Parts: sequence; structure tokens; C-alpha cells
Amino acid sequence: MSAQEDYTSLTRPDPPFSHPEAIPRFEGKVPRHVGVIMDGNGRWAQMRGLPRTEGHRAAEPVVFDTIAGAIEAGVRYLTLYTFSTENWNRSPAEVRFLMGFSRDIIHRRVAQMNDWGVRVRWAGRRPRLWGSVIKELERAEEITKGNSVIDVVFAINYGGRAEIVDAVNEILREGKKEVSEKSFANRLYNPDIPDLDLIVRSSGEKRLSNFMLWQSAYAELDFEPELWPDCGRQVLWRAITAYSGRRRRFGGVEGA
Ligand code: IPE
Ligand code: IPE
Ligand code: MG
Repeated sequence: MSAQEDYTSLTRPDPPFSHPEAIPRFEGKVPRHVGVIMDGNGRWAQMRGLPRTEGHRAAEPVVFDTIAGAIEAGVRYLTLYTFSTENWNRSPAEVRFLMGFSRDIIHRRVAQMNDWGVRVRWAGRRPRLWGSVIKELERAEEITKGNSVIDVVFAINYGGRAEIVDAVNEILREGKKEVSEKSFANRLYNPDIPDLDLIVRSSGEKRLSNFMLWQSAYAELDFEPELWPDCGRQVLWRAITAYSGRRRRFGGVEGA
């Protein structure tokens, strides 16, 4: 793939699709579904005396380097926590920036993602989310719906509790009196997507911040110290390497 096609008007060039640094040989299993809590943009900017929004800008090439690295590693589903239901609590200016920037990135990058074989998905709540963001997400979903290299889920206006409550309300509207774990999971935003195998959070914070509460029940957790704008595929690969050495028991007993 010719990596440097000009999909964007970035000041900084994107790294090439195939990284010059060879991909590590993952000795164990590669996770099927990875969730990334992309944290630390504001601190990255503040450390440089820049407004927080510059940290969000610096995050864009990192997002696409991470997607390319996930494809190279053989990850099948990648969920990127982009804007939480709690992020509305930020200043109106930052919220406005994050909405407009998300909309523009999806618009500018859909051709590139389509070339990479990415199927774009959205997880989140409709009310309150900017209509123009929903429009770009739905357009990207439509353009890329035939792709199957990787599903990249943008979690925008996403909250784990909101998703659970939305599922409950749907069940109530259907007039059901009882649910099973399976029928409940079928009402989540993207019921076809399997549970998370691995969650990676950057910036050293050790919490889930309302990320995929149902789907994380047996996820392996990995916390990386770098701020998100300093991350990239090497950080993802480091997390996958750690994951591949973990023993997942799911409540059972090994060797039994
Ligand atoms: C993550 O970086 C991006 C979003 C939550 C949208 P932050 O903006 O949370 O950066 P910090 O945590 O304040 O450094
Ligand atoms: C989590 O980061 C949300 C996203 C990365 C989109 P936050 O920065 O919002 O989380 P808290 O407030 O530190 O828990
Ligand atoms: Mg943060």
C-alpha cells in the first residue's frame, strides 16, 4: 500500500502504514477485541504551554498509527474511546472543539480507512451528540460496511452505564418481563461485536471511566504511562505482548 497518500491536511506527516520497526512476534494469542482509552491529550498540551485543544490535534496521527498497528498485529475489533457521556462536563469551548474535530477527522479519513479495509462503526448515544457528527459516522459506516480487515468502533457520546440503561429501556419497550445475559447483550449498541479481550489506557490513570462496563467483564487490563499523543503502534504492541503472556481463566481452573 502506498502509505503517504495525501488524505489529510496534517502539519505532521502520518507514519507509514507498515512501520519501519518490525512487528514483534507475539508468542501467545493476539486479542480479538482491543479497547483503547486514549487519555492524556490535555496534559500533553499543558506541559508544552499549549491550549488543551492542541493535545487533541496531536492525537490524530496517533489514532491512525494505532489503527495501522492493530491491523498489522491481526486485531479484529478495535474500540477507541473518543468522547464519553461525562466529557460534556468540560468547558463549552473544549466540547465544541472535540465535536467539530471528531466530525472533521471522520470526514477526512474515511477514504484512508476504506483503503485499509476498515469497517467504521459507532458506539454511543444519539441525544445531545451533534447531528453533523452522527451524519459523518453514518456516512463512514455506509461507505465501509463491506470491509472486514478490522472493525474500528468510535465510542463517541459513549458511556457504559448509558449503554446498559438504553438496553434496559429497549427491553421494557418490547414489553419483556425477563431477560437472560444473552438477550440483554443483544440490545447493546453493537451486539455482533464480541466482548473485550484487552483494554489499554494511556497516561498512567488506572480506571475505566465508564468504558464498556458490560463488555469488559473478563478483559485483561493494561495501563501505559505515556500520554496519548506520545503513543502509537509500539505502545499497542507492548500491550499485546503483555496480554499474550497472560493466563485467562474465566473463573475456571487451569489444566483441569
Ligand atoms: C483524552 O485526553 C481525550 C478525551 C477525553 C477526549 P484528555 O483530554 O482527557 O487529557 P487529560 O487527561 O486531561 O490530560
Ligand atoms: C476517558 O478519559 C474518556 C476518553 C478517553 C474519551 P477522561 O479523561 O474523560 O477520564 P477521567 O475523567 O480522567 O476519568
Ligand atoms: Mg483525561
